[in-house]
Amino acid sequence: MAAEKSPRVLWPLLLEEIRACQKCGLCQGRTQAVPGEGNVLSPLLFVGEGPGAREDATGRPFVGAAGQLLDRMLGAIGLVREQVYIANIVKCRPPGNRAPTPDEAAACLPYLRAQVALIRPQIIVCLGATPARYIMGEDTRVTRDRGKWLERKGVRLMCTFHPAALLRDESKKRPAWEDFQAIRDALHTLKLNTEEEP
Ligand code: URA
Repeated sequence: MAAEKSPRVLWPLLLEEIRACQKCGLCQGRTQAVPGEGNVLSPLLFVGEGPGAREDATGRPFVGAAGQLLDRMLGAIGLVREQVYIANIVKCRPPGNRAPTPDEAAACLPYLRAQVALIRPQIIVCLGATPARYIMGEDTRVTRDRGKWLERKGVRLMCTFHPAALLRDESKKRPAWEDFQAIRDALHTLKLNTEEEP
């Protein structure tokens, strides 16, 4: 029987593959790919749309203005980004920060699936319409469905506004804050469940 590779072996291989990827045209415009970062053992995974200019320049997700707001929102629920994992639907920057095309998303989604298989998160939060659509389903509308939990294969899924949307529209901040409080409560429930296990 072939020896199963451990996550410790698989992670570097996956990151290397993402950094060298040429599966869609986005590779032509990138400075570098942005695979994702954080705690690979975290129960909580955030998924955004795709890298912007600063992410493309640094190779790190959510480090621009939207990322700084995400950091503050995490802080408000008692978390730092190193405690969660942060990834995107596409790993290379779409030109002009446009949304990825369905073909680009389809080419890149196997990487996110591989990340989910390795992290095995218990909660996945979709930041904005693009991840909501590809992860929760095509009919998902963030304005209508944000904050509602969906469960799939034992994983709790939720979408909320993308932090960049909060920077553009102040009125979205309160509902987004409510969503983050619900995420905090869901995390606490997981901890209680774990503690209660014999
Ligand atoms: N917006 C995203 O969706 N992802 C990032 O990594 C940065 C900004």
